[in-house]
Amino acid sequence: MIYKRHTVTAALPYANGPVHIGHLAGCYLPADIYVRYLRSKGEDVKFICGSDEHGVPITIKAKKEGITPQQVVDKYHKMMGDAFKEFGISFDIYSRTSSKIHHETASEFFKTLYDKGVFKEEITEQYFDVKANQFLADRYIVGTCPKCGNDNAYGDQCEKCGSTLNATDLINPKSTLSGEKPVMKKTKNWFLPLDTMQPQIEAYIDSHKEWKANVFGQCKSWLNSGLQPRAMTRDLDWGVKVPVDGAEGKVLYVWFDAPIGYISATKELTPDWELYWKDKETKLVHFIGKDNIVFHCIIFPAMLMAEGSYILPENVPANEFLNLEGDKISTSRNWAVWLHEYLLEFKDKQDVLRYTLCANAPETKDNDFTWKDFQAKNNNELVAILGNFVNRTLVLTHKYYQGIVPLPNEYTKEDLVLLEEISKFPVKISVSIEHYRFREALGELMNLARLGNKYLADNEPWIVIKTDEKRVQTVMNISLQISANLTVLMEPFLPFTSKKLSTMLNLSGNLKWNDATRTNLLLAGHQINTASLLFDKIEDETVFTQVQKLEDSKKMNELNSKSEIPNSKSEITYDDFSKMDIRVGTILEAEKVPKADKLLKLLIDTGIDKRIVVSGIAAYYKPEDIIGQQVSILVNLAPRKIKGIESQGMILMAENNSGELRFVAPIKPDINNGGEIK
Ligand code: MF3
Ligand code: ZN
Repeated sequence: MIYKRHTVTAALPYANGPVHIGHLAGCYLPADIYVRYLRSKGEDVKFICGSDEHGVPITIKAKKEGITPQQVVDKYHKMMGDAFKEFGISFDIYSRTSSKIHHETASEFFKTLYDKGVFKEEITEQYFDVKANQFLADRYIVGTCPKCGNDNAYGDQCEKCGSTLNATDLINPKSTLSGEKPVMKKTKNWFLPLDTMQPQIEAYIDSHKEWKANVFGQCKSWLNSGLQPRAMTRDLDWGVKVPVDGAEGKVLYVWFDAPIGYISATKELTPDWELYWKDKETKLVHFIGKDNIVFHCIIFPAMLMAEGSYILPENVPANEFLNLEGDKISTSRNWAVWLHEYLLEFKDKQDVLRYTLCANAPETKDNDFTWKDFQAKNNNELVAILGNFVNRTLVLTHKYYQGIVPLPNEYTKEDLVLLEEISKFPVKISVSIEHYRFREALGELMNLARLGNKYLADNEPWIVIKTDEKRVQTVMNISLQISANLTVLMEPFLPFTSKKLSTMLNLSGNLKWNDATRTNLLLAGHQINTASLLFDKIEDETVFTQVQKLEDSKKMNELNSKSEIPNSKSEITYDDFSKMDIRVGTILEAEKVPKADKLLKLLIDTGIDKRIVVSGIAAYYKPEDIIGQQVSILVNLAPRKIKGIESQGMILMAENNSGELRFVAPIKPDINNGGEIK
């Protein structure tokens, strides 16, 4: 089937944390390579993504940080959007599901199904928190796991033994909102009857035996265990309101609204959005991670079928998971390489990460990212093969011809074979990309650079130049053509490097994929620009620092995970701190402040002077007990009038276990008054 246009989506990430390498490798990078390739082929394509801003994980994060869900999603939407941009993920739009257009679109979609009578209304019993006056999502309930006895299992899963649970399975369930035991309460929700739709869905899946084995296999296993009706509404107050009567306090299930986000983002992008969603000549492809398979291959297609006017996904190339240094990537355990942090250490090296993640993509099984391997890929492949070939070619061109592309003379038989072989690369790489085999595609790209290196090594222009200048012109011409073709073919994978090389070769910016079937992109007489290295070596020390950083953060995380002391105040600089002048002083006199139960009036010897300080410690110390006591005092605090007395400074105190204030004072009395605390 020949398609007129393409709609390519990448899973909408939850806006509850920054982007890490697992996200990139799992779906955004392969999607970006695919789309850049299609654009280079001159195809009509829209690349759609945005933040998934609803769902329980967001409300939990908000609760934990003491901010609103909207504040959570605003923060991460911006952060994620920026990170994608910085790594060259070339979405045509990065939208968000809290937008008005999305709420309208999702709401309308639901209403259409509702009016068609698609949903089954059902009354079920759900846990309800009487004190908090709300129904509890599974994640808001903790209790004892019936399988392993873990006291902190969630209503949907026990993280200790990994079992999937129902909230009603938990022994001694407790609401995480109030700590109370939840009660059962009846509630009405709307279900998508996947059970009665099973035959249609099965036919759809069976018509896609070409899907990746992991994807097809997972779909079949769901189908084989028999699809169940699934609630498309939830009792929750964060999300898209259910647009029908009698649904107060209910929102659309996040997995109902989120994939509709692809549609609303397209609407936001172009008035022609319907062409990209309803025309049979459009190819719809969803890039996702493996935990999203059932939603994109079964539930979303079922929604689209039920609506009736939409095309169905043509392919859903899901990746497996990427691990990090042998361990599962985890946001909560801080075991991750965050994109924004990577850039702090590896400025302008976005392509090195893109390369490593693509070469190691978890396409058919889970895979591991290690910093050692990252270094090896950079040093042994990008530097030693690709960079080395291009650099030698450009440097010699400047050296022998002042940067002017030489005329080729007579081709040898080997030259002709090589030229023929070069011209086949665009098709070879295409085949791999179109089958979503991006590692293989990247391997082919590197093979072209390898050919170039071998050609230089076999022909040794730096030696032949002494005896046969004409031959060297041909060799350099061919090497330059290979460099030009590499520029075009590397663009989907290494867009930053492609741009750099394109500038060095002074190539026209609008070369397309198929131009790389030619071997004369650079004409004789064409002037190239100054050469600089495409990649540089990464030292042992640099990657060692990264591994160290990971291990430290894991350790800190383990040590801190049980702490109940709230987060510290916001960060300050040393300069902020050094503005405070804190001294050791001695209390010379102390008396109660009339008509104020809490206050004592103190006379302090600060070493600099003697001054009056009013302090709220009357409940904790008797005046007569503290005469002669050493204390710490902030001496440059602006004076304040308290009960008519001018207080000149502040005594530093800490709370003890019973919540009483105690002086913070030198341990040994060997510090004189005026001693500075710093
Ligand atoms: N937010 C989901 C996740 O991170 C993915 C949603 S994909 C969607 O797992 F488009 F369907 F929303
Ligand atoms: Zn368990």
